[in-house]
Parts: sequence; C-alpha cells; structure tokens
Amino acid sequence: MSGLPEFPIDVQVNRGDPGSEQAWYAEPQAPVAGIEDIVLVASGKGGVGKSTVTVNLACALARAGKRVGILDADLYGPSITRMMGTDRELPVDDEGRTLPVQNHGVWTVSVGNVLPPEAALVWKGPLVTQALTQMFHDIAWPELDILLVDLPPGTGDVPLTILEQIPVTGAVLVTTPQKLSVVDAARGIAMFHDLDIPVFGLVEHMGSYLCPCCGEVQPLFPDGAAKALAGRKHVKFLGGVPLDPEGQMLADGGLPLVIGRPESVAAAAFSDLALEVSEAVGRERASRTRESSDEMRSKHETFWENLLDD
Ligand SMILES: Nc1ncnc2c1ncn2[C@@H]1O[C@H](COP(=O)(O)OP(=O)(O)O)[C@@H](O)[C@H]1O
Ligand SMILES: [Mg+2]
Repeated sequence: MSGLPEFPIDVQVNRGDPGSEQAWYAEPQAPVAGIEDIVLVASGKGGVGKSTVTVNLACALARAGKRVGILDADLYGPSITRMMGTDRELPVDDEGRTLPVQNHGVWTVSVGNVLPPEAALVWKGPLVTQALTQMFHDIAWPELDILLVDLPPGTGDVPLTILEQIPVTGAVLVTTPQKLSVVDAARGIAMFHDLDIPVFGLVEHMGSYLCPCCGEVQPLFPDGAAKALAGRKHVKFLGGVPLDPEGQMLADGGLPLVIGRPESVAAAAFSDLALEVSEAVGRERASRTRESSDEMRSKHETFWENLLDD
C-alpha cells in the first residue's frame, strides 16, 4: 500500500441541474450579472503566450464592436495589468461597488490590481475559490458581450473551480509547437471534453518568427504538431501567430500588438482569431435560444394538456 490517493478521481462538474444524480455540487451555477458569454483561454504549459492571446483577442473583439472584459484568473502569475496598461487600483463607485479598470476599450480585473507587483500570493484552496467568486460576482462588471478569462496553465484547482461555479460558453486552447506543450494542451482539451465544455479551437503560438530585418515570417519548428493534435481531438485549428520581437516590447509597455501595430502579421492573426471566436460564441448563443424555445414549447404543451385534463 503506497498510501497515495486512488486515481482516477471521478471529477464531475455541476452543469446547472441540481436535481441530477450526478451533480455533486448542490447549488446551480450562478450567471455573472451583465455578462452574456464567458470564454476561457487555456493552455497546458506556462509561457506559451496565453495572456498574449487573451489581451490581443480582447482588443481585436473590442475593435470589432464587442463589449469585452478580461478576468485574470492566473492568480499566481498575473500578467494582464502589465500587458493591458491597467496597473492601478480598482476604482469604487458612489455606491461603494468595486469596478474593473478600462483601457484600450476593454474592462479588466486582476489580482495585479490589488497586490504590489513582486508580492507573492500565498493562498490555497478556499481562499482561491473565494477570490475567484469575488472577481466574478463582487465586481460591478458593466454589460459585456464577452468576458475572456485568462486561466493559469494546466488543469488544476482554478479551472475546475470556475467550471464548477460559472456557466462557461467555451474555451480556446493555446500551445506552442513543441511536443511538451502540445501534449499538455491535449490534457486541457480532454478536461474540457470530459466536462462538456465546447472547445472553440486550438491556436498555435510562436511556431514562426517575424524577422525584423527582412520582415518575412520564418518557420521556427517543423510545421504541424498543433494542427495534428487539433485533427486528432476533433477541434478546430484556429491558425498560427508568429513570434514578433516588437510585440514583446509593446506588451511590456501595456500595448497589445493589435493596438500598437495593427498592420502587423501577428495583429492580423489575432483579428482572424477574434472572428472565429465571435462566430463560435454566436453559434452557442443560437443553440441556447433554440434550447430555451424548446423548453418554452414543452411548458406550453404541458400547460394545455393539464388544462384539457381538468
Ligand atoms: N507573439 C509573440 N511575439 C513576441 N513575444 C511574445 C509573443 N507571445 C508571447 N510573447 C512573450 O512571451 C512571454 C510569455 O507570454 P505570455 O503571454 O505571458 O505566456 P503565458 O500567459 O502562457 O504564460 C511574454 O513575455 C510575452 O510578451
Ligand atoms: Mg499568463
């Protein structure tokens, strides 16, 4: 006997049906006031460009006329305040409610807004859950079409807590082409599939390089590992974003590429990604409307049947 816990643990997430025998979490998921759709940006590994994708996707969606927010759920490695130039205290309105900070047309909240930049966060378990609940529910978010959630890497406590408590519309996975990153992205896809969360697709990040001398995009790795994974897992390949050295410097100064160099190859890739995500969210919305009108129809039928029986 090793004394280790037995695996696999049967993880089930409440999908809003507390009556179901499978629901292990009694409360229904609470929608976030004012927010239409919540989209998670996830990766298996850290450092693959998840936060970069989040901020550029958000800015590209905002430029396309969407009302967009970002919730930085990477509690132990928050980057959103720096990348979005929102590195200041959260404002409070006349009624004492805490508001998100806006820049580049996007509303953002991060632990980076409440902690000094180099302070270590030493929370675990219940405190993490509490912090996430506060970020979703106690912030006075304005009315938004899409709230992007920048997840920490991996399939740990934070994504599971969010999936348990918040109705999520879908997820975008980010990977670099290296095998280690692709393998971990596969785990992320498996988590969403297991929990019945639509995966909008897989983005391959930094598989190529925009040469500052000749302006040409050069491949950095043999092509295809991310595309092959997308095919194997039956998720959409959402395209590649090149490594852009200037993007790195802009990001450190709070200027996403989509805003700082909208004419760049990387910015164009993020705009295409924004279109894909908008369309995927639109499809999910349409199926929600269909489901709710089916529900309504069945309620009407029951009403008339009962009336006729009486
Ligand atoms: N396309 C890109 N071109 C240049 N630098 C990038 C690009 N994407 C990410 N980076 C840089 O790589 C580092 C890691 O990216 P980040 O988005 O923070 O990754 P993650 O959120 O997955 O940990 C950051 O310093 C970021 O500015
Ligand atoms: Mg990050």
